[in-house]
Amino acid sequence: MMKLWGGRFNKETDSLVHQFNSSISFDQRLYHYDILGSMVHAEMLVKQGILESDEGDKIIKGLKEIEEEISDGKLKIDNTYEDIHSFVEAKLIEKIGPVGGKLHTGRSRNDQIALDIRLYLRDEIKAIQELQKCFLETLLELAEKYTDIYIPGYTHLQRAQAVTLAHHLMAYYFMLKRDYQRFDDNLERVNVSPLGSGALAATTYPLDREYVAEKLGFDSVTQNSLDGVSDRDFIIEFLAIASTLIMHLSRLSEEIILWSSAEFDFIELDDAYSTGSSIMPQKKNPDIAELVRGKCGRIYGHLIQILTTLKGLPLAYNKDMQEDKEGLFDTIDTLKIILKIYPEMLKTMKIKKDNMYKACQKGFLNATDLADYLAQKGLPFRNAHEIVGKAVRYCIDKNLELEDLSIENYHDLFPEFKEFFSDDLKEFLSIKYTVDKRNITGGPAAEESLRVIYTEKNWLKEL
Ligand code: ARG
Repeated sequence: MMKLWGGRFNKETDSLVHQFNSSISFDQRLYHYDILGSMVHAEMLVKQGILESDEGDKIIKGLKEIEEEISDGKLKIDNTYEDIHSFVEAKLIEKIGPVGGKLHTGRSRNDQIALDIRLYLRDEIKAIQELQKCFLETLLELAEKYTDIYIPGYTHLQRAQAVTLAHHLMAYYFMLKRDYQRFDDNLERVNVSPLGSGALAATTYPLDREYVAEKLGFDSVTQNSLDGVSDRDFIIEFLAIASTLIMHLSRLSEEIILWSSAEFDFIELDDAYSTGSSIMPQKKNPDIAELVRGKCGRIYGHLIQILTTLKGLPLAYNKDMQEDKEGLFDTIDTLKIILKIYPEMLKTMKIKKDNMYKACQKGFLNATDLADYLAQKGLPFRNAHEIVGKAVRYCIDKNLELEDLSIENYHDLFPEFKEFFSDDLKEFLSIKYTVDKRNITGGPAAEESLRVIYTEKNWLKEL
């Protein structure tokens, strides 16, 4: 197979070495971006008088045809080539003759691959952000519906205070919103053109780097040729954001898994989003949520891999850097399918609101409210805390809840604090009341939740 570098060699590459060295089995995914970059490069070479315009025309026409033939499936990408760059150049020369060999003037595969990944990743980030937007929209829609569905809030996975399902989902909304914004930030550093960095030391040709960058929609060009070919920070950033995003989804998945269990029994996943067991006929398993939780390890692995690959590399390009792609591609594929499935899984799951409510009624979720009640009547909060602790202890022994005790019971239990307990106590301890009262900014009260939901709806609309 024709090599781009055969000249100084007397022998063919060993076949296993070829297999080990080549990247075409995976970098073929970049063919569209590779060809796009080449077309603009050729156009610029003509503009700068480095190529004749008829040479440029032939090259661009040839590249266009190759692109069409690959996307129509007429031209199969052949794994005997070393990489996508060699393949495209060889096909171009086959098609238009030796003039095709002029395309690589003033360019190296080192700046070419850096360009290809940036172009590719830019599109993929935007595609992921579109999916994130749908996800965020779904969360807002569900939250708007669920402002009066009460659910225990937990700390240490022990029932703590009642919140609403809306409030709970909105916590995930904000995690995912930050991930969206992190991708915006990542895009700023992805969207810089490295073309013109050459192999490492730029080039003696009078290239117009800014022209290429502008034509390809980049915001700017890299300012150091060594860095231009050896920087993969934007991939690390992407994988770090992806890791954060999947960590968030893994936490949500963990809750979905718990909530689906008979022990919680808060939700039932739709049949289309769960699976069964080959031996236990009764089983319905939350496999999708479990797999999302499981995929976390895989994406973290890709992040650690690229960090480790780069850590000892001297400037500039080193072949180790070819290892930057498979983990990136796998992360993108994994995220995209998850982001497509997840909102649908949430939309279709059945909410068992009565069970959620029942769970709020047991476990003294209003204990803090009783302490606040007493404090509001003038008792120092510390004393109030102590008294309520005693009341809780008493109720545990009698298998009662705080709201089951009458005012008389409280008076009997705490004769020296009688004046702090009065008839308004019952209402104070009701679940709705405990939630509605928490109406400061960021609180779970329905009215405050709705304010936040509407603000976020507007934010989303303006994206
Ligand atoms: N396949 C290579 C990569 O993915 C392309 C750049 C090759 N450059 C080189 N000098 N061997 O990194």
